Amino acid sequence: MKFTPTLRFPALATGLTLLGTLAASAQSAAPASLTVQVNKPGAAVNKNMYGLFFEDINFAADGGLYPELVKNKSFETDARLIGWKALQGAANLDTYSVRNEQGLTASNSHYVRLTTRNGASGEAGLENEGFRGMGIKQGGEYTLSFYARRGAGSINGLTATLVGEKGENLGQVAVTGFTDQWKQYTAVVRATGTQNKAHLKLVLNGTGTVDLDVISLFPKDTWNHRPNGLRTDLVQLLKDMKPGFLRFPGGCIVEGRTLSERYQWKETIGDVASRTPLVNRWNMEFKHRSTPDYYQSFGLGFFEYFQLSEDIGAEPLPILNVGMACQFNSGELAPMGSASTKGGPSAPAAAAPNTGDPSLDIFIQDALDLIEFANGPASSTWGAKRVAMGHPAPFNLKMIGIGNEQWGPQYLERYEPFAKAVKAKYPKIDIVSSAGPSPDGDLFDKASKRLGELKAEYVDEHYYALPQWFREHADRYDKYARTGPKIFAGEYAAQSVAIGSPDNKNTWDCAISEAAFMTGLERNADVVGMASYAPLFANVDAWQWTPDMIWFDNLNSYGSPSYYVQKMYALNKGTKVLPVTMPSGTKNGADNLFASAVADEPAGEVVVKLVNYSGSPRPVSINLAGAKGLGKTGRAQTMASADLQTQNSLAEPKKLAPQESTFAVKGSTLTYTLAPNSFTVLRVAGKK
Ligand code: AHR
Repeated sequence: MKFTPTLRFPALATGLTLLGTLAASAQSAAPASLTVQVNKPGAAVNKNMYGLFFEDINFAADGGLYPELVKNKSFETDARLIGWKALQGAANLDTYSVRNEQGLTASNSHYVRLTTRNGASGEAGLENEGFRGMGIKQGGEYTLSFYARRGAGSINGLTATLVGEKGENLGQVAVTGFTDQWKQYTAVVRATGTQNKAHLKLVLNGTGTVDLDVISLFPKDTWNHRPNGLRTDLVQLLKDMKPGFLRFPGGCIVEGRTLSERYQWKETIGDVASRTPLVNRWNMEFKHRSTPDYYQSFGLGFFEYFQLSEDIGAEPLPILNVGMACQFNSGELAPMGSASTKGGPSAPAAAAPNTGDPSLDIFIQDALDLIEFANGPASSTWGAKRVAMGHPAPFNLKMIGIGNEQWGPQYLERYEPFAKAVKAKYPKIDIVSSAGPSPDGDLFDKASKRLGELKAEYVDEHYYALPQWFREHADRYDKYARTGPKIFAGEYAAQSVAIGSPDNKNTWDCAISEAAFMTGLERNADVVGMASYAPLFANVDAWQWTPDMIWFDNLNSYGSPSYYVQKMYALNKGTKVLPVTMPSGTKNGADNLFASAVADEPAGEVVVKLVNYSGSPRPVSINLAGAKGLGKTGRAQTMASADLQTQNSLAEPKKLAPQESTFAVKGSTLTYTLAPNSFTVLRVAGKK
């Protein structure tokens, strides 16, 4: 996609920051008086309101959450030897080439054949560079596994070494016993040092020819100690947010640049070694961040996404291709299939293979099969595959998304039969539809209207815009009809410079503006059912899109200020919206003061969220109208920085993170001074 920021979100004047500052200096020292009507609880807050958007962008999967250390382990990528190089420039190898005669399996037919040079001295073999290096931890154990088949000569094994940036040996293991048949070998390497950019060296023992395939180096330290498990620090950051849902696998990656490059979930389950990699559509999207070595290995596939959702307590929300390639790229369309030829939609009778010219029927069938894979019994075709992968219990899938960020009549005409077919077979599954890439404009209006007529359950709205847009649109959902589809704010993030700009930073200005906007999501919880920041992850050495919620290198990770804002909302979402009256009849957001409140009924607490987007401290006095059983002290969580450009980093991961304190409550009024440029959550015992 060639994102053209100015088309989607016309640049807004940066001068407004100055206006904000001037307004702040004009504030009076008298406390701003707000009323929270504790005795008038309103809409219920969806218990899954704040969730996660996962997409394999910025090396979020391979080279990120999925901790396989070897890049291109199966030699199945288009470029075949990406990630690999011959030791000493092949001086000791006669040939090292990818072949596919008598490969391991039909879906993994390619392997590398190494033939040593006659009479050459010194080491012969291959090195793998990893994903911008390999993160190795001292004392950590790494499982090396590969398939080998010896040819002519005397090669009967190899020695694997973890090599540091200066060539140092960080752990070694020898494997022997090669035969003339494919056989898998495994061994464990224990690391003797810690390095962010190590690599793996494989030296052949003997001379002659050998074939190698599915060469994997996988840390033993994974989430829940699973053999194909996920990176622990990253899963922990997700789990700490208590996310309500996990949207996967994207994002535009669902769509692909062409239909043949679309995400096909069926290709991502079963034996990991047999999953065929696919080019990652983000590899060359941005010239300024070109990443030609970016593929999807699918080691993290749909089974693993469901498992991750379960691990972190989030509802799974798979997004499926609606028969459209990315409209920012080819925009290829699947023919309508039986939906058009029979004069109306119908569920296809049987699964068709995902080859050839795919009609919409195939896409619909993929969705029906996915629901069966997630929820079906062991006696069903797809439920049996889940059971065979080690998960007899259903994943309890409750919702799916049809299409990612599609727009125009082509989407609506595909969505309609798609949704009908899903509902006909699975009436209890909620469906998420798309309102397109822009939060306003003709296409957005038409899609929203039509989806309302079709009684869509959720409409997915996206907004990537300047921080100021977020502050100025905190009232967006105040104006929405209360009877239409629920809104899924499925992708949003304040862009410090412009959408798609490589200069965007995860500043406090962005995060506090998102916090201000989110008071409007919370206040309108009868309209907005789910919300997720996007994108989720970025590798500091291999990103394409910025800003992102969580950044990492091969060893460490940190949450941006936006991460902590999302977390504060998720951990304080409460159960019922409480009406808030702003000072002397002003609107929420006037004078850059934003507020929302909820009752947390199980905890018996009132929760007030306040954003002070000004360079001055701001005293507030909050009347908790009609509250009973008020505590004498409350707990505050605050994120504040006088400098709106503050960012976190690997070196200072918590430079800006919530700080906890307590405050006194007198009678039914609490007074509190909001710090300059702050987001504050106040909790106090009290109920209706
Ligand atoms: O979050 C990055 C991209 O932004 C998503 O893939 C897409 O849905 C949106 O355009």
